[in-house]
Amino acid sequence: MREFPSQDGIMMIGGKSAVEIADEFGTPVYVTDEQRLRENYRNVYDAFSRFMDTRIHYACKANTNLAILRVLEQEGAGIDAVSIGEVLTCLKAGFTPDRIMYTGVNVSDRELREVAETGVMINLDSVCEMERLAEIAPCSDVSFRITPGVGSGHSAKVTTGNKGAKFGIPLDQVIGTYARAKDLGFNIKGIHAHIGSGGQTVEPFMDMMEVLIELVNEIKGLGIDLEFIDMGGGIGVPYMPQEEEMDVGELAMNLTDMIQEETDIETIVLEPGRYIVCDTTVLLTRVNDIKDTGVKKYVGVDAGFNTLVRPTMYDSYHYVALANKFGKACTDKYDVVGPICESGDYIAHDRVLPDPRVGDIVAVYNAGAYGFSMSSRYNSRPVCAEVMVNDGKAELIREAETYEDLWKHQIIPERLRR
Ligand code: LLP
Repeated sequence: MREFPSQDGIMMIGGKSAVEIADEFGTPVYVTDEQRLRENYRNVYDAFSRFMDTRIHYACKANTNLAILRVLEQEGAGIDAVSIGEVLTCLKAGFTPDRIMYTGVNVSDRELREVAETGVMINLDSVCEMERLAEIAPCSDVSFRITPGVGSGHSAKVTTGNKGAKFGIPLDQVIGTYARAKDLGFNIKGIHAHIGSGGQTVEPFMDMMEVLIELVNEIKGLGIDLEFIDMGGGIGVPYMPQEEEMDVGELAMNLTDMIQEETDIETIVLEPGRYIVCDTTVLLTRVNDIKDTGVKKYVGVDAGFNTLVRPTMYDSYHYVALANKFGKACTDKYDVVGPICESGDYIAHDRVLPDPRVGDIVAVYNAGAYGFSMSSRYNSRPVCAEVMVNDGKAELIREAETYEDLWKHQIIPERLRR
């Protein structure tokens, strides 16, 4: 797990005091370290591009903040987008359509048309979607997401590649689908699979690659030469203090070796989301309340599952520390819980903390992936701000919503206004 430096007992993020950030921008607030973002991108790009032509398509569902997208655009990343909203956001951030690939699931004709009109390549998820696209945008560039029959992930809720999953072309239909796509006149560029998110071992990726390679060679037999294999995302990161990091260098070496030994494919595409943004960001949340029930001690903070839903939704572990008592000796065990009126609302269970008091700042680690992007206005709490830190300077990259934003798009019909 990533560690942070401190100065005089205060946690430092990107050279700036976490307490000053919380005071200046209010809490809860997501704080992203720009340099770490650049480093993560370069790490994964360098690991693979040593061996073969590599395209990193950042899975922007993990975090679509425009400033974060700008940094990755500058670094040379491409984009994996899952909705027209994500495609338009990335175009807005300055990505050209040729750097974006769209992989939707169960999408409407309207969305297919809108995506096709942007010029972004479509990675098809089903035979039905292919037939519909043939009407909407004949002869366009496409690839196919296949279901490799290999699944991996931190939770069953994010495991996607297993047989019978709702995603992709089932294995026994893949060759028939490529043959049909050729007949329909599509320009077929590649093959794609995504086994799931947050896996911690290399083996499932290799099992998936074996399946993809066999298919590439069968597809070649149809007279279709593919340009790329897209291995999806899913590279896990350590969330717990003693947890080991996945060896991305080993992953890259093994996968590119398999491709080069057994196929003519020249380009590997990856779609990491979590790996790129997860440890770039902490969520800062202020202690509002302390309660000792005799059974359990609670630290009540201003971020709940409206701000970070992962603990509640997936039982995910996020390390927490007191940013203003960094490295101090811990006194007792607490549950860190939020302001949402449900017992399932928690950030962390049974954590030792150094004498937490009202006003302290809790830093929630590894909040960059699927943190802000899954936040909501539940309990009518406005969505919080995002800040980026670079070289000791903190800048607002998203304003916190106001109370007015809560009812901005709502309409009271005339007959109810009296
Ligand atoms: N490619 C495709 C087609 C995907 O569906 C995903 C994630 C990715 C790439 C990126 O996966 P990553 O590298 O981030 O593991 N909300 C969950 C994670 C859901 C992931 C969905 N798909 C969480 O908070 O853990």
